[in-house]
Amino acid sequence: MQENSSVLTTRNFNLRNLDMLDKENVFALFTDKCVMEFNEGKILKNLKEAENFIRYQKTQPTCFKNLNWAVTLKKTREFIGLAGFRNWDQSSFQAEIGAAFFSRYMNKGYGSELIDSLVAFGFNNMGLNRIIARIRPENKAAIQVVNNYDFQLEGVLRQSHFQNGNFNDVLLYSLLRDDIA
Ligand SMILES: CC(C)(COP(=O)(O)OP(=O)(O)OC[C@H]1O[C@@H](n2cnc3c(N)ncnc32)[C@H](O)[C@@H]1OP(=O)(O)O)[C@@H](O)C(=O)NCCC(=O)NCCS
Repeated sequence: MQENSSVLTTRNFNLRNLDMLDKENVFALFTDKCVMEFNEGKILKNLKEAENFIRYQKTQPTCFKNLNWAVTLKKTREFIGLAGFRNWDQSSFQAEIGAAFFSRYMNKGYGSELIDSLVAFGFNNMGLNRIIARIRPENKAAIQVVNNYDFQLEGVLRQSHFQNGNFNDVLLYSLLRDDIA
């Protein structure tokens, strides 16, 4: 697949728009137990649902838009996960940042590398004023990544996420344009 359509590049990665050819990878990602343990998205049941996910990224209305990009290794073009923004509320200039890598790519410093470029893209290209991160309290890696970036903990959204018959707490973090000025 051509990588010349990259939205963003970092030292090791290209971030590009999703393509239908990514459906097997998207399906594998959203059925990876380590990924879905903390991810608020729903586990995909089949390739058709992966196709629907990709189609939705391309056709959704601009209000509360999601920008889910494929993250690929520059060297090999291998798809390693998704990253981007969701719930982009353009009237309030805020969006929720997020990323998910296949478990074999976690804890290698990739999230920390990406957050820098994502935050810069959010403030500079999307014109955001506030970037939100919603993280389960058990998700130590994600908490560490946002803490290292000086996101502020705003509080606990008590039992705001329902999964597998349980209501889970979610931590709400934010980074303001003023925080990094
Ligand atoms: C969350 C995620 C994107 C982070 O990316 P990553 O590449 O794994 O993160 P990094 O390797 O850059 O950094 C992880 C940090 O957490 C720390 N960490 C990892 N596991 C930890 C644990 N159990 N306890 C404490 N700290 C931990 C690492 O030491 C590192 O901190 P450091 O940079 O200060 O040394 C990735 O783990 C992932 O895809 N997880 C599954 C999906 C998910 O949870 N997405 C986020 C939903 S909010």
